[in-house]
Amino acid sequence: MTPSNEDELTQAALQRLAECGDPRFAQVMSSLITHLHAFIREVDLKPDEWMAGIEFLTAVGQACSDKRQEFILLSDTLGASMMVVMLDQLRASRGSTGSLSVTEATEATVQGPYYWQGAPEVPLGADIAEGVKGEPTFYSGRVTDTHGRPVAGALLDVWSGDGEGVYDMQVEGSDMAARARLRTDEEGRYWFWSIRPSFYPVPVDGPVGQMLAAMGRHPNRPGHIHMKVSAPQHAPVTTHLFVAGSPYLDSDAVFGVRPSLIVDYERHPAGKAPDGREMNRPYWSAHYDFRLEPQAA
Ligand code: BEZ
Ligand code: FE
Repeated sequence: MTPSNEDELTQAALQRLAECGDPRFAQVMSSLITHLHAFIREVDLKPDEWMAGIEFLTAVGQACSDKRQEFILLSDTLGASMMVVMLDQLRASRGSTGSLSVTEATEATVQGPYYWQGAPEVPLGADIAEGVKGEPTFYSGRVTDTHGRPVAGALLDVWSGDGEGVYDMQVEGSDMAARARLRTDEEGRYWFWSIRPSFYPVPVDGPVGQMLAAMGRHPNRPGHIHMKVSAPQHAPVTTHLFVAGSPYLDSDAVFGVRPSLIVDYERHPAGKAPDGREMNRPYWSAHYDFRLEPQAA
């Protein structure tokens, strides 16, 4: 088919998928072509604007290295990563509960670029942020399944920036800091010390930073601590706890905030902490119970 107008051009591009041997790939590409053509027509894209877009995507690719993934940052800041996270968790929940629009499990959010595999496994009660800038915080809670049954031996893989919003990985040559793995006790309980995380900006020294500025957007994320919570025969959850009252909770640069993940941090004077630790300066506490969806073995 030789297209003679815009509608026929879209049809011609779709017909080129006729010989595609992978039905899922054909579905994805067909939808992509349909939406891309519709987008170009809707905004009446000019050749110089099209070229500016090509140059932008080229710069995004060139900014990627083994230490930086600018395409994921682009996806994060356009809300695409969060859309994939939300749909993925709903798909898993639908499988076991039949619910269409809610999950009973702890809600998931974006992983972000600062996960570092192989954090040290530490005992319950450990301070995972010794020597890290920031106000001490006692974290505690339980891991249960979605029926409320305690999950013993669940793994919490925890990481955050420091009290000024800087991650260990952002400091050239730094060792791991403010990250660890812990396992829940027989009753599904966990507790550990870290710091109260601060808000911080996503990396803005590349093309995505220029895009945010051109869009009139700030680059900040509200204060949060990351967790991957997992246990055998349960769906793992990659999530955060957000600090209630933090700036940017209403305008997270990567759309990762979910109301169910906002936690009150309670301030305490110096003295005996809930785990018996004698604190010689004021500290905070944050309590959160995680729920994991049981999965067939
Ligand atoms: C983060 O939370 O660490 C993060 C997430 C997405 C983009 C940049 C940073
Ligand atoms: Fe983060």
